[in-house]
Amino acid sequence: MLNIVIFGAPGSGKGTQSEKLVARYGLQHVSTGEILRDEIEAITELGKLADSYMSKGELVPDCIVIDMLDSLIEKKKHVKGFIFDGFPRTVPQGEALSKMLSKHEEDVNAVISLEVEDEELIDRLLKRGQISGRSDDNRETIEARLKVYYRQTSPLKEFYKERGILKEIDGIGTVDDIFRTIEKEIDQLIK
Ligand code: AP5
Repeated sequence: MLNIVIFGAPGSGKGTQSEKLVARYGLQHVSTGEILRDEIEAITELGKLADSYMSKGELVPDCIVIDMLDSLIEKKKHVKGFIFDGFPRTVPQGEALSKMLSKHEEDVNAVISLEVEDEELIDRLLKRGQISGRSDDNRETIEARLKVYYRQTSPLKEFYKERGILKEIDGIGTVDDIFRTIEKEIDQLIK
């Protein structure tokens, strides 16, 4: 299995690059944000709960997303590998992911961290907000999401650096140029 975490602040391009990774390597894309938005749209109990956090730019509690991921990995355990997009988002989620994968004698192979400065992130998300209808793409919620990223999510970079699998990549430039850099890192891994 090849298990990649695509990591970065809101708007850094995780979803965009994940699509290209799926096409290139045939991995299973797992976006916790997308799963939660589907639950909100379907007005499920989980969706109602998730919406109360997501609309404020806060993280949905660890126990909820970890359980969600655990059952998804069990269901999809025969795939070639996963691209985790938006998960993990806290150190406890990072620890839980390794534990879930270890049940199948697997672990995360690489963490691709897309590095983009705040000004560009805000600009991208405000632009998307004008067309996407995503309730969290407004200035106030974008700023809250960025604070949450620096406080709760960015410590994972150190967590993965210590494990020797963090690859920091410049996330500014064209989508194709950024993808080529990611591709080089992954090709080296599977050589
Ligand atoms: P999630 O859906 O994961 O959103 P996010 O992390 O805020 O990320 P985005 O989807 O906004 O950005 P992205 O990095 O994927 O960039 P994208 O490719 O879309 O999470 C949403 C919420 O769900 C969270 O706030 C939280 O509440 C909850 N949640 C999710 N996972 C959770 C978890 N594990 N634990 C707890 N809570 C969780 O690109 C953004 C824009 O930029 C697009 O318009 C795109 O076209 C554009 N763009 C992309 N690349 C470039 C480029 N190179 N140059 C110019 N523009 C570009």
